Amino acid sequence: MTDRPQTKDAANSMWGGRFAAGPDAIMEAINASIGFDQRLYAQDIRGSRAHAAMLAAQGIISDSDADAIAKGLLTVLSEIEAGDFPFKTALEDIHMNVEARLKEIIGEPAGRLHTGRSRNDQVATDFRLWVRDQCDAAIAGLQALIGAALGQAESGADWVMPGFTHLQTAQPVTWGHHMMAYVEMFGRDLSRFQDARRRMNESPLGAAALAGTGYPIDRHATARALDFDRPMANSLDAVSDRDFALEFLSAASICAVHLSRLAEELVIWSSAQFRFVSMSDKWSTGSSIMPQKRNPDAAELIRAKIGRILGATVALFTVMKGLPLAYSKDMQEDKEQVFDAADNLMLALAAMGGMLSDLTANRENLQAAASAGFSTATDLADWLVREAGLPFRDAHHVTGTLVAMAEDRGCDLPDLTLADMQSVNAAITDDVFNVLGVHNSVASRQSYGGTAPDQVRAQIARWKEVLA
Ligand code: ARG
Repeated sequence: MTDRPQTKDAANSMWGGRFAAGPDAIMEAINASIGFDQRLYAQDIRGSRAHAAMLAAQGIISDSDADAIAKGLLTVLSEIEAGDFPFKTALEDIHMNVEARLKEIIGEPAGRLHTGRSRNDQVATDFRLWVRDQCDAAIAGLQALIGAALGQAESGADWVMPGFTHLQTAQPVTWGHHMMAYVEMFGRDLSRFQDARRRMNESPLGAAALAGTGYPIDRHATARALDFDRPMANSLDAVSDRDFALEFLSAASICAVHLSRLAEELVIWSSAQFRFVSMSDKWSTGSSIMPQKRNPDAAELIRAKIGRILGATVALFTVMKGLPLAYSKDMQEDKEQVFDAADNLMLALAAMGGMLSDLTANRENLQAAASAGFSTATDLADWLVREAGLPFRDAHHVTGTLVAMAEDRGCDLPDLTLADMQSVNAAITDDVFNVLGVHNSVASRQSYGGTAPDQVRAQIARWKEVLA
């Protein structure tokens, strides 16, 4: 190690020799974040423009320097957006790349931009702005998805289908009710992103390295300029916490779980064994060998996305655990996880929204399946309680006996005769057949939040108001 050239120039130069250059190259490789944090360029430039304007307003730098900085930063912005910005790994990250280029463009005033701030509050600000945008994107994606689910619910509010527990036919429900269950889940996801956004909307800028600064800066002004509600109240906290990212990832993980469950149902429902739904060609793929196949690839991929999104969440929780205050370089490991999780969540939300809008539910198949599997056995037991005065446990037993009888004969409950029924319990009358049909069954479930079409329509109307 002592043989290594002592100056950075020597260490980085082409002639430094393999031994000396090796470790430096590896140091540069492990240290640099420009490969990924260049995604923060717009936020970085926005933050710097707000900071420079505030420095001038406070008399900390001259108006002419602030002007030069503001214009120069716009030039940098257009270079990056045009794709001809020379990103340099030696300059480590987006913050130093932007500042170094600004210096090339405007010269000396560039050196005044970093007055009263540090890369620690700079990166915390940039990243908060970026994650805040992703909250907005998730909110928009969820609103579109909820709209698609509401559309499905509305067109099939009274279509009957089997409701399952343990993936065994349980009781008939309505298609609208099933779709509205997802509306509720995605609605909670929506509110989680709204909550997270509200909590993260405070500005770290001006916390400087960790302790604040002796310059007479105005943190309220920069907070306003960046559309934050207020500056963060503690400079140590401002540079050292990433709970806003953890909260975003947590909300994303829960949302991805919900997406995976709907995706799984679409995979099952579109199979030849179920045929509950037909997926549009737009959202299906074929097989190169089996001509009959229509594969629900998008649904399968959405089902899988939770893997990487939850992985990112666990990764960042693990990075943050046990870090002493304030900033530690460990925190540079926050970005790739959040970038990947956000990209994949937005893609999954968009794909699910599109798939659901273009989905055709097969009303006849849903209804046929709803009637099979003794799905109205509970209705029969309830009838015995209501009309024949049996205790529920006895009614359950009588019904079980009748189900076994029907199973023996290879028929459904409504196919048994009144005499068959009376042979098990004499109190049964012809009226029982009114509750054995699936439509009567769902219509009877009028309890708040139940599957009766009236209840479902009331929830659809409520959600339409919420979204409007
Ligand atoms: N690239 C760094 C990050 O992403 C920026 C902050 C660096 N601060 C420092 N004191 N080295 O976290």
